[in-house]
Amino acid sequence: MPVFDRDSCPGYPLFIFSLAFSTMDIARRLTALNFPEGTAVVAEEQIAGRGTKGRTWHSARGKGLYVSFILRPSASSFNLLPAACGLTAAEAIEELSGVRIQLKWPNDLVYQGKKLGGILCEGGSAGGRQTRAVAGIGINLNHRLSDFPPEIKNLATSLFLLTEKTWKPLDLFRHLGLRLKVWYNNLEKGHFDLVLASYRKRLSFKAGQKLLLQTVEGQLPVEFQDLEERGGLKVRVDGETRIFHASEIIKVF
Ligand code: BTN
Repeated sequence: MPVFDRDSCPGYPLFIFSLAFSTMDIARRLTALNFPEGTAVVAEEQIAGRGTKGRTWHSARGKGLYVSFILRPSASSFNLLPAACGLTAAEAIEELSGVRIQLKWPNDLVYQGKKLGGILCEGGSAGGRQTRAVAGIGINLNHRLSDFPPEIKNLATSLFLLTEKTWKPLDLFRHLGLRLKVWYNNLEKGHFDLVLASYRKRLSFKAGQKLLLQTVEGQLPVEFQDLEERGGLKVRVDGETRIFHASEIIKVF
């Protein structure tokens, strides 16, 4: 049975904060209070926006969409939740603006190698077949180059820089809710192959391409082979096939 049926869609109830430390923390608290799956928290500005790997997420007022969704995926789909959210965000951006976004494993939204947004999934087991998850999505909408902090100026982009138009965060939010309904239901119905195949098609690199990975063992030059079934990166390194789950691509050659 689909989690979000014909009449329901992620994004309801919706909490909109003028200012928040991080929408992740508010959503986590609402999860503990048993708010339903699909509850969304949007902030116009975040003081302590979080990125992956303990980084901060630059969240200036009016510049981006900063949203977290409460989800309760089954334990078997938890690993693919970032992929489903990446597809959700890429399709929502494309529907709204016509810009085709690629996905840089594991959770970056990129356009010609520059980062337009990111996904942060936090959560864990609730002690059964279901997990408690908060899916955070941050998308750069209206940044001029001078709005980015110096350290990310050369690495980041925004929908304004790509289209020369300003965008309303809540317009993108509506598209996100609709696309999340599709991809989350696919995940919960066990259509893992479809999620992986769609993710593969949106990847910003191809099989055979050389990558530089940051791993717990240090930096590693590898050759990309494929995505493995739980969303890991299957690569060739020193004549051996290996799968990485928790690492980062620092260069695509
Ligand atoms: C990344 O590092 O690429 C992930 C960035 C995720 C940012 C979003 S903005 C909404 C939500 N609240 C946060 O504090 N982080 C996520």
